[in-house]
Amino acid sequence: MSQANPSQEPAAAASRKTLGATTYRDFIAELLRKKGARNYLEIGVRDGATLAKAECHSIGVDPNFTLKHDPLGRKRVLHLYQMTSDEFFRDHDPRDVFRGSVDVAFLDGLHLFEYLLRDFINTERTCDRRSVILLDDCLPPNIEMTERTHRPEQRRDQAVAQWWTGDVWKVVSILRELRPELRITPVDVRPTGSIMVSNLDPDSTVLYERYFQIIDRYRDLQFTPDSFETYWTVNRPVAAETLLHEFDLSLYIRA
Ligand SMILES: C[S@@+](CC[C@H](N)C(=O)[O-])C[C@H]1O[C@@H](n2cnc3c(N)ncnc32)[C@H](O)[C@@H]1O
Repeated sequence: MSQANPSQEPAAAASRKTLGATTYRDFIAELLRKKGARNYLEIGVRDGATLAKAECHSIGVDPNFTLKHDPLGRKRVLHLYQMTSDEFFRDHDPRDVFRGSVDVAFLDGLHLFEYLLRDFINTERTCDRRSVILLDDCLPPNIEMTERTHRPEQRRDQAVAQWWTGDVWKVVSILRELRPELRITPVDVRPTGSIMVSNLDPDSTVLYERYFQIIDRYRDLQFTPDSFETYWTVNRPVAAETLLHEFDLSLYIRA
């Protein structure tokens, strides 16, 4: 097994991007409050640290829950599904549980772009135009953590060797390319950013119809130092505090 070279660590750390002070968990909790969200769907729950902070009706999906936080908290309704998101969307519809469309969804399951793309396609169908979908881990601070297989021992920047975003960043590029009507707002939350997607269209079939084409085209794509810089320029993050305090997140337009 190859080991990281300690002499490369300082340079690797110096080139690491930094994000803001707000954590993605606090951001989501505040977003739910500010938006007056009636319900929340979280794909990929793990120990429940984020789900625990949501106060509205919620659904959590994970094939392997390792709960350490009380996921119920102040919620009146909570449904947990111990299964993959593909199985969940095949057999269940969150609209049946919520008796309406999903208000806010946080997609944080398997960190491979084809999984996140499917989660996005399946979730958008259950949303309405006023809903928000949050994509986790799409602002990777360095290129190494975008590897498709997490190999911490081979990283040069050992301080963040346990951070693994996988290649879910590709979904942001896919949405920008194929769904220009979506409103995409990168947010500078720690540790690896969040992408807020709004102006959703539950009737859109673009991604579904081109699914295999997209997979073939993006599967082997990898960041180069130049394309990484371009990605960060295109997806320059907004400060979480600005978004929470200056954007009207309770916006409601009746269809
Ligand atoms: C990064 S963790 C989620 C962290 C959690 N959202 C939080 O904020 O604390 C990713 C989770 O995705 C789950 N996962 C893996 N494959 C999945 C799949 N196919 N569908 C849904 N969840 C999956 C893992 O079991 C793991 O618990």
